[in-house]
Amino acid sequence: MDTTPPFIEIDNVSFGYDPRRLILKDVSLKFPRGKVTAILGGSGCGKTTLLRLIGGVHACTRGRVVFDGEVVNTRDKAQLFRLRRRLGMLFQFGALFTDLSVFDNVAFPLREHTALPEAMVRDIVLMKLNAVGLRGAAALRISEVSGGMARRIALARAIVLDPELIMYDEPFAGLDLISMGVAAKLIRTLNDVTGATTLLVSHDVPQCMAISDYVVLLATQGRIVAQGTPAELMASTDPETRQFVRGEPDGPVKFHYPAPEIAADFGLGAR
Ligand SMILES: Nc1ncnc2c1ncn2[C@@H]1O[C@H](COP(=O)(O)OP(=O)(O)OP(=O)(O)O)[C@@H](O)[C@H]1O
Ligand SMILES: [Mg+2]
Repeated sequence: MDTTPPFIEIDNVSFGYDPRRLILKDVSLKFPRGKVTAILGGSGCGKTTLLRLIGGVHACTRGRVVFDGEVVNTRDKAQLFRLRRRLGMLFQFGALFTDLSVFDNVAFPLREHTALPEAMVRDIVLMKLNAVGLRGAAALRISEVSGGMARRIALARAIVLDPELIMYDEPFAGLDLISMGVAAKLIRTLNDVTGATTLLVSHDVPQCMAISDYVVLLATQGRIVAQGTPAELMASTDPETRQFVRGEPDGPVKFHYPAPEIAADFGLGAR
């Protein structure tokens, strides 16, 4: 049995943006050091929320998040600054500074968190841009790049501080198939070369299966449907897991956000 402590531990965590409506309910998960773990699950099941709790953006209502042995305390600003220096986050939506150049976007965390001389900032930024194939685009403004390029710039920025934990929220959204394959390979390579721990949230089952060591499948309120290696999940006979990994439209997983009966909403009443 593996007895090394996990890099991230989610210990009986409950959380709701509104305390009367829990988004995550008693979730316990362990993310092993040095591995790529993919978090899959239907829209709205709380994947982005989980990443925010790990990043200390919100405090859990109950339970604790443990980051490399330290309990994350959102009231301890010094701790948060220190922990955030150790993590790179690729956000689901944009978050690039639109009036800065590609170069300055990637340089931003370096300038914010380090006192490196500008020559070194330049070398690091160009190296990271090269890793995502965009060294030639350094001088462009964000308004001049395509959606797919923007994801890759965000990726370069997420890794610019050589983080120990890299969290990607939908890194493949808006990428064509080739760029998607390149991005997936890059995520795997970055993890292996830097020895970082990677959490990957994505709807792209094939890419996740191809590059992850472990996969966690979540349902509403963060209920864990299945977890294991990609091979284990692909071989699962559980109907919910099968539906999800095969992308079948019909099955136990529901498409609708909870809503009143449609007749009630449209004022039709029961007949
Ligand atoms: N800032 C917020 N304030 C209030 N409610 C929120 C906020 N962010 C998310 N929610 C709600 O929390 C639930 C989970 O959202 P979350 O973004 O974590 O889902 P997700 O699994 O990442 O979904 P997707 O796959 O669509 O990105 C949703 O019901 C959403 O409406
Ligand atoms: Mg999300």
